[in-house]
Amino acid sequence: MFTLLSSTQVAHDHYLLTFRTDIQSSVPGQFINIKVGSYTDPLIRRPFSLFDHIGNTMKVIVRIVGKGTRAIVSTNPGTIDCIGPLGKGFSIVSGKKALLVGGGVGNAPLYYLATMLSKNNTDVTYIYGARSQKDIFLLDSYQEISNKLIVTTDDGSFGLKGTPVEAAKSICGDSSFDIVYTCGPEIMMKRLSQELSHIHIEASLERYFGCGVGLCSGCAVATRDGYKRACIDGPVFDAHTVMWDN
Ligand SMILES: Cc1cc2nc3c(=O)[nH]c(=O)nc-3n(C[C@H](O)[C@H](O)[C@H](O)COP(=O)(O)OP(=O)(O)OC[C@H]3O[C@@H](n4cnc5c(N)ncnc54)[C@H](O)[C@@H]3O)c2cc1C
Ligand code: FES
Repeated sequence: MFTLLSSTQVAHDHYLLTFRTDIQSSVPGQFINIKVGSYTDPLIRRPFSLFDHIGNTMKVIVRIVGKGTRAIVSTNPGTIDCIGPLGKGFSIVSGKKALLVGGGVGNAPLYYLATMLSKNNTDVTYIYGARSQKDIFLLDSYQEISNKLIVTTDDGSFGLKGTPVEAAKSICGDSSFDIVYTCGPEIMMKRLSQELSHIHIEASLERYFGCGVGLCSGCAVATRDGYKRACIDGPVFDAHTVMWDN
Protein backbone atom coordinates (compact mmCIF):
# COMPACT_ATOMS: atom_id res chain seq x y z
CA MET A 1 0.00 0.00 0.00
CA PHE A 2 1.43 3.39 -1.04
CA THR A 3 -0.08 6.74 -0.07
CA LEU A 4 1.29 9.79 -1.85
CA LEU A 5 1.79 12.51 0.77
CA SER A 6 3.30 15.26 -1.36
CA SER A 7 4.90 16.22 -4.65
CA THR A 8 7.30 19.15 -4.34
CA GLN A 9 9.37 20.82 -7.02
CA VAL A 10 13.08 20.62 -6.13
CA ALA A 11 14.73 21.80 -9.38
CA HIS A 12 13.75 22.69 -12.93
CA ASP A 13 11.39 19.87 -14.03
CA HIS A 14 12.39 17.72 -11.01
CA TYR A 15 9.94 16.78 -8.23
CA LEU A 16 10.35 15.02 -4.89
CA LEU A 17 7.49 12.59 -4.23
CA THR A 18 6.98 11.41 -0.67
CA PHE A 19 4.97 8.27 0.08
CA ARG A 20 3.78 6.56 3.22
CA THR A 21 4.05 2.81 2.85
CA ASP A 22 3.83 -0.28 5.01
CA ILE A 23 7.03 -1.63 3.37
CA GLN A 24 9.82 -1.55 5.92
CA SER A 25 12.88 -2.76 4.00
CA SER A 26 14.56 -1.95 0.71
CA VAL A 27 18.02 -1.71 -0.78
CA PRO A 28 19.41 1.42 -2.48
CA GLY A 29 19.25 0.91 -6.25
CA GLN A 30 15.87 -0.80 -6.09
CA PHE A 31 12.94 0.88 -7.81
CA ILE A 32 9.18 1.22 -7.55
CA ASN A 33 6.89 0.84 -10.55
CA ILE A 34 4.19 3.53 -10.53
CA LYS A 35 0.88 3.23 -12.36
CA VAL A 36 0.10 6.49 -14.13
CA GLY A 37 -3.48 7.58 -13.37
CA SER A 38 -6.40 5.21 -13.07
CA TYR A 39 -7.06 4.61 -16.79
CA THR A 40 -5.22 2.57 -19.44
CA ASP A 41 -3.29 5.41 -21.13
CA PRO A 42 -0.41 5.20 -20.50
CA LEU A 43 -0.76 1.48 -19.91
CA ILE A 44 2.74 0.66 -18.79
CA ARG A 45 3.92 1.50 -15.28
CA ARG A 46 6.87 3.90 -14.93
CA PRO A 47 9.95 2.86 -12.87
CA PHE A 48 11.64 5.21 -10.38
CA SER A 49 14.62 4.48 -8.13
CA LEU A 50 14.29 5.01 -4.40
CA PHE A 51 15.77 8.34 -3.38
CA ASP A 52 15.28 7.57 0.30
CA HIS A 53 13.48 5.14 2.59
CA ILE A 54 13.28 5.56 6.35
CA GLY A 55 10.70 3.67 8.40
CA ASN A 56 7.42 3.94 6.53
CA THR A 57 8.44 6.97 4.45
CA MET A 58 9.70 6.39 0.92
CA LYS A 59 10.83 9.09 -1.52
CA VAL A 60 11.57 9.27 -5.23
CA ILE A 61 12.75 12.06 -7.52
CA VAL A 62 10.85 12.38 -10.79
CA ARG A 63 12.22 14.33 -13.75
CA ILE A 64 9.54 15.32 -16.23
CA VAL A 65 10.39 13.89 -19.67
CA GLY A 66 6.99 12.98 -21.12
CA LYS A 67 3.33 12.20 -20.60
CA GLY A 68 3.71 9.73 -17.73
CA THR A 69 6.12 11.74 -15.61
CA ARG A 70 4.10 14.94 -16.15
CA ALA A 71 0.98 13.14 -14.88
CA ILE A 72 2.77 11.51 -11.93
CA VAL A 73 4.15 14.78 -10.50
CA SER A 74 0.69 16.38 -10.63
CA THR A 75 -1.08 13.47 -8.92
CA ASN A 76 -3.10 14.56 -5.90
CA PRO A 77 -2.15 13.15 -2.49
CA GLY A 78 -3.89 9.87 -1.68
CA THR A 79 -3.60 6.17 -2.40
CA ILE A 80 -1.50 5.39 -5.46
CA ASP A 81 -0.96 2.14 -7.36
CA CYS A 82 2.76 1.25 -6.96
CA ILE A 83 4.62 -2.04 -6.99
CA GLY A 84 7.96 -2.47 -5.29
CA PRO A 85 10.62 -2.23 -4.18
CA LEU A 86 11.81 -4.26 -7.17
CA GLY A 87 15.14 -5.30 -8.67
CA LYS A 88 18.61 -5.94 -7.37
CA GLY A 89 20.25 -2.96 -5.67
CA PHE A 90 23.78 -1.84 -4.81
CA SER A 91 25.96 -3.77 -2.39
CA ILE A 92 26.62 -1.92 0.86
CA VAL A 93 30.29 -2.12 1.84
CA SER A 94 31.48 -1.44 5.40
CA GLY A 95 34.57 0.47 6.50
CA LYS A 96 35.77 1.18 2.94
CA LYS A 97 36.45 4.20 0.71
CA ALA A 98 33.75 4.67 -1.89
CA LEU A 99 33.41 7.02 -4.83
CA LEU A 100 29.86 7.79 -5.98
CA VAL A 101 29.42 9.34 -9.44
CA GLY A 102 25.97 10.58 -10.43
CA GLY A 103 24.71 12.22 -13.58
CA GLY A 104 21.42 14.15 -13.72
CA VAL A 105 18.45 12.35 -12.20
CA GLY A 106 20.80 9.36 -11.79
CA ASN A 107 21.93 11.11 -8.61
CA ALA A 108 18.63 10.10 -7.00
CA PRO A 109 19.43 6.47 -5.99
CA LEU A 110 22.96 7.46 -4.98
CA TYR A 111 21.61 9.65 -2.17
CA TYR A 112 19.95 6.67 -0.48
CA LEU A 113 23.09 4.62 -1.15
CA ALA A 114 25.34 7.30 0.42
CA THR A 115 23.22 7.37 3.59
CA MET A 116 23.51 3.59 3.94
CA LEU A 117 27.27 3.60 3.25
CA SER A 118 27.82 6.32 5.88
CA LYS A 119 25.86 4.27 8.41
CA ASN A 120 28.27 1.42 7.61
CA ASN A 121 31.38 3.54 8.28
CA THR A 122 32.28 3.85 4.62
CA ASP A 123 33.95 7.10 3.60
CA VAL A 124 31.89 8.69 0.80
CA THR A 125 33.37 10.91 -1.90
CA TYR A 126 30.51 12.13 -4.03
CA ILE A 127 30.70 13.59 -7.56
CA TYR A 128 27.38 15.21 -8.46
CA GLY A 129 27.12 15.90 -12.19
CA ALA A 130 24.38 17.99 -13.78
CA ARG A 131 23.81 19.71 -17.07
CA SER A 132 23.29 23.09 -15.45
CA GLN A 133 22.71 24.71 -12.04
CA LYS A 134 18.94 24.75 -12.58
CA ASP A 135 18.91 20.92 -12.75
CA ILE A 136 20.62 20.40 -9.37
CA PHE A 137 18.28 19.11 -6.66
CA LEU A 138 18.65 18.99 -2.86
CA LEU A 139 22.39 19.67 -2.88
CA ASP A 140 22.44 20.42 0.88
CA SER A 141 21.28 16.85 1.54
CA TYR A 142 24.14 15.47 -0.57
CA GLN A 143 26.58 17.76 1.27
CA GLU A 144 25.38 16.38 4.61
CA ILE A 145 25.94 12.72 3.78
CA SER A 146 29.26 13.05 1.89
CA ASN A 147 32.72 13.24 3.39
CA LYS A 148 33.69 15.15 0.24
CA LEU A 149 31.35 16.56 -2.41
CA ILE A 150 32.38 17.75 -5.88
CA VAL A 151 29.82 19.29 -8.22
CA THR A 152 30.26 19.47 -11.98
CA THR A 153 28.04 21.12 -14.56
CA ASP A 154 28.34 20.73 -18.31
CA ASP A 155 27.90 24.47 -18.86
CA GLY A 156 30.01 25.62 -15.88
CA SER A 157 27.06 27.44 -14.25
CA PHE A 158 27.89 25.82 -10.87
CA GLY A 159 30.91 23.94 -9.50
CA LEU A 160 33.54 22.64 -11.93
CA LYS A 161 32.85 22.99 -15.64
CA GLY A 162 32.93 19.57 -17.27
CA THR A 163 31.65 16.06 -16.80
CA PRO A 164 31.64 13.94 -13.65
CA VAL A 165 33.87 11.44 -15.49
CA GLU A 166 36.64 14.04 -15.86
CA ALA A 167 36.35 14.87 -12.15
CA ALA A 168 36.46 11.16 -11.23
CA LYS A 169 39.53 10.62 -13.38
CA SER A 170 41.38 13.50 -11.78
CA ILE A 171 40.66 12.52 -8.15
CA CYS A 172 41.36 8.83 -8.77
CA GLY A 173 44.95 9.85 -9.63
CA ASP A 174 45.50 11.14 -6.05
CA SER A 175 43.25 8.93 -3.94
CA SER A 176 42.47 5.27 -4.06
CA PHE A 177 38.95 3.92 -3.74
CA ASP A 178 37.81 0.41 -2.88
CA ILE A 179 34.66 0.70 -4.94
CA VAL A 180 32.87 3.07 -7.34
CA TYR A 181 29.10 3.34 -7.65
CA THR A 182 27.44 5.13 -10.53
CA CYS A 183 24.06 6.02 -12.00
CA GLY A 184 23.31 8.38 -14.86
CA PRO A 185 23.37 8.56 -18.64
CA GLU A 186 24.69 5.35 -20.17
CA ILE A 187 27.45 7.18 -22.08
CA MET A 188 28.72 8.59 -18.76
CA MET A 189 28.78 5.15 -17.10
CA LYS A 190 30.46 3.57 -20.13
CA ARG A 191 33.23 6.20 -20.10
CA LEU A 192 33.64 5.86 -16.35
CA SER A 193 34.11 2.11 -16.61
CA GLN A 194 36.69 2.61 -19.39
CA GLU A 195 38.62 5.27 -17.44
CA LEU A 196 38.52 3.40 -14.10
CA SER A 197 39.02 -0.11 -15.44
CA HIS A 198 41.17 -1.01 -12.40
CA ILE A 199 38.41 -0.39 -9.81
CA HIS A 200 35.27 -2.43 -9.11
CA ILE A 201 32.27 -0.40 -10.33
CA GLU A 202 28.59 -1.00 -9.70
CA ALA A 203 26.36 0.77 -12.23
CA SER A 204 22.59 1.22 -12.16
CA LEU A 205 21.29 0.97 -15.73
CA GLU A 206 18.24 2.64 -17.19
CA ARG A 207 16.32 0.67 -19.80
CA TYR A 208 12.81 0.88 -21.18
CA PHE A 209 10.77 -1.32 -18.89
CA GLY A 210 7.68 -3.15 -20.09
CA CYS A 211 6.51 -5.39 -17.28
CA GLY A 212 9.25 -4.54 -14.73
CA VAL A 213 9.02 -8.05 -13.25
CA GLY A 214 11.00 -10.28 -15.63
CA LEU A 215 8.24 -11.40 -17.99
CA CYS A 216 8.70 -9.49 -21.27
CA SER A 217 12.51 -9.35 -21.84
CA GLY A 218 12.04 -5.76 -22.99
CA CYS A 219 14.86 -4.58 -20.73
CA ALA A 220 17.67 -6.86 -22.02
CA VAL A 221 21.25 -5.93 -21.14
CA ALA A 222 24.17 -7.61 -22.93
CA THR A 223 26.82 -8.74 -20.44
CA ARG A 224 29.86 -10.99 -20.63
CA ASP A 225 27.69 -13.60 -18.87
CA GLY A 226 24.96 -13.40 -21.55
CA TYR A 227 21.80 -11.37 -21.76
CA LYS A 228 20.30 -10.24 -18.46
CA ARG A 229 17.01 -8.53 -17.62
CA ALA A 230 17.61 -5.12 -16.08
CA CYS A 231 14.40 -5.29 -14.05
CA ILE A 232 15.18 -8.45 -12.11
CA ASP A 233 18.92 -9.20 -12.64
CA GLY A 234 19.60 -5.46 -12.19
CA PRO A 235 19.18 -2.55 -12.54
CA VAL A 236 22.55 -2.63 -10.74
CA PHE A 237 25.30 -4.51 -12.59
CA ASP A 238 29.06 -4.94 -12.33
CA ALA A 239 30.01 -2.25 -14.87
CA HIS A 240 32.97 -4.25 -16.15
CA THR A 241 30.72 -7.12 -17.22
CA VAL A 242 28.34 -4.87 -19.21
CA MET A 243 28.96 -4.85 -22.97
CA TRP A 244 28.29 -1.14 -23.32
CA ASP A 245 28.40 -1.06 -27.14
CA ASN A 246 25.73 -3.76 -27.65
C1 LIG B 1 15.37 1.21 -13.09
C2 LIG B 1 14.96 2.60 -13.50
C3 LIG B 1 15.02 3.62 -12.56
C4 LIG B 1 14.63 4.92 -12.93
N1 LIG B 1 14.69 5.88 -11.97
C5 LIG B 1 14.28 7.13 -12.27
C6 LIG B 1 14.29 8.14 -11.24
O1 LIG B 1 14.69 7.93 -10.08
N2 LIG B 1 13.83 9.37 -11.60
C7 LIG B 1 13.39 9.66 -12.88
O2 LIG B 1 12.98 10.79 -13.14
N3 LIG B 1 13.41 8.73 -13.86
C8 LIG B 1 13.83 7.48 -13.58
N4 LIG B 1 13.80 6.50 -14.56
C9 LIG B 1 13.32 6.88 -15.91
C10 LIG B 1 11.81 6.96 -15.91
O3 LIG B 1 11.25 5.69 -15.64
C11 LIG B 1 11.34 7.49 -17.27
O4 LIG B 1 11.80 8.81 -17.45
C12 LIG B 1 9.82 7.47 -17.36
O5 LIG B 1 9.36 6.15 -17.40
C13 LIG B 1 9.36 8.22 -18.59
O6 LIG B 1 7.95 8.20 -18.64
P1 LIG B 1 7.16 9.27 -19.52
O7 LIG B 1 5.81 8.71 -19.79
O8 LIG B 1 7.20 10.62 -18.90
O9 LIG B 1 8.03 9.36 -20.83
P2 LIG B 1 7.62 8.88 -22.29
O10 LIG B 1 6.54 9.79 -22.80
O11 LIG B 1 7.41 7.41 -22.31
O12 LIG B 1 8.98 9.23 -23.04
C14 LIG B 1 9.49 10.57 -23.05
C15 LIG B 1 10.96 10.58 -23.44
O13 LIG B 1 11.75 9.91 -22.43
C16 LIG B 1 12.47 8.82 -22.99
N5 LIG B 1 12.40 7.70 -22.04
C17 LIG B 1 11.29 7.20 -21.47
N6 LIG B 1 11.59 6.18 -20.65
C18 LIG B 1 12.92 6.03 -20.70
C19 LIG B 1 13.84 5.13 -20.10
N7 LIG B 1 13.47 4.16 -19.24
N8 LIG B 1 15.14 5.26 -20.40
C20 LIG B 1 15.55 6.22 -21.24
N9 LIG B 1 14.73 7.10 -21.85
C21 LIG B 1 13.44 7.00 -21.59
C22 LIG B 1 11.73 8.50 -24.30
O14 LIG B 1 12.64 8.01 -25.27
C23 LIG B 1 11.24 9.84 -24.74
O15 LIG B 1 12.24 10.57 -25.41
C24 LIG B 1 14.19 5.20 -14.24
C25 LIG B 1 14.14 4.19 -15.19
C26 LIG B 1 14.53 2.90 -14.84
C27 LIG B 1 14.48 1.81 -15.84
S1 FES C 1 10.81 -5.09 -18.16
FE1 FES C 1 9.83 -6.96 -18.71
S2 FES C 1 11.46 -8.40 -18.39
FE2 FES C 1 12.29 -6.55 -17.67
